[in-house]
Amino acid sequence: MSDTMGSSCPDRASATRTRRCADRLRVPGPLRISDRRLYVEAGIVSQEPRPEPDAGRRSEMPRDCREQAAVAEITYRTLRRDEIERVEEIDRAEVINHVFHLRDGQLALEEEHVDVGGWRSGALSQSKQRIYECLDREGSAWGAFYGDGLVGIAVLDGKRIGRTRDMVDLYFLHVSSGFRDRGIGRGLVGLVKARAVEMGARRLYVSATPSHHTVRFYMGVGFAVTSQVEPELFEREPEDIHMDMELVPGAEER
Ligand SMILES: CC(C)(COP(=O)(O)OP(=O)(O)OC[C@H]1O[C@@H](n2cnc3c(N)ncnc32)[C@H](O)[C@@H]1OP(=O)(O)O)[C@@H](O)C(=O)NCCC(=O)NCCS
Repeated sequence: MSDTMGSSCPDRASATRTRRCADRLRVPGPLRISDRRLYVEAGIVSQEPRPEPDAGRRSEMPRDCREQAAVAEITYRTLRRDEIERVEEIDRAEVINHVFHLRDGQLALEEEHVDVGGWRSGALSQSKQRIYECLDREGSAWGAFYGDGLVGIAVLDGKRIGRTRDMVDLYFLHVSSGFRDRGIGRGLVGLVKARAVEMGARRLYVSATPSHHTVRFYMGVGFAVTSQVEPELFEREPEDIHMDMELVPGAEER
């Protein structure tokens, strides 16, 4: 996923960073009618009257999102093409202290310090260009809003990938610094999953920024290190942790 570290993270060169390889440790507008159905499926809004979620449904629900929405009034909606420029509103600041590497098929966590101050303009314009390309091929974008402010964004690429062309890529996912760990990322992933299923996809792919926090987040929402690395995405982002998740039971065997 385009970000601010490594080749996938074009800001890496500008980030303040030290690395200690020696002590390597071993060890995530308004709703259209069709939108509303997706939001219901993702557990972000309920039908009226609100049904009691059953056990299966509950597991798909963004628990923290529902709790925090009440507190922080986070709302979700699809982003129009002309709103993509607003990605700059997201506060990208992050201090990373541990980064995952994939070594011999195992995740290795290494101490590595990266101070991501914010978006680097070159990286951001490249990301925006790729987001437009995602939308051009039937992709979608969603925003999480606190009041009128954009505090989270997710972009699904509509291009079919994978050996059997039944997988789609979660191209972009960012939550503003002050809004992380409140369930917003989980809420956005829920929307992405619902749309991907609607598109007929059986698996969802992500090229994850290798930071400990981000990889743990993706694991927490159901992704695992992929056994089928997508060559084009790997070439673009070789330092990322490439992950995928099953959207339809049995997709793994295909
Ligand atoms: C990664 C990111 C999108 C996650 O969004 P978020 O809103 O902070 O994450 P959430 O609050 O929705 O977390 C969802 C789940 O992940 C879990 N999680 C998050 N960080 C975790 C961590 N470090 N370790 C273990 N679990 C973690 C949460 O506990 C939560 O699980 P729960 O709902 O079962 O309690 C966000 O932190 C971010 O934008 N990070 C910086 C940019 C980035 O790396 N983007 C991804 C590029 S590929």
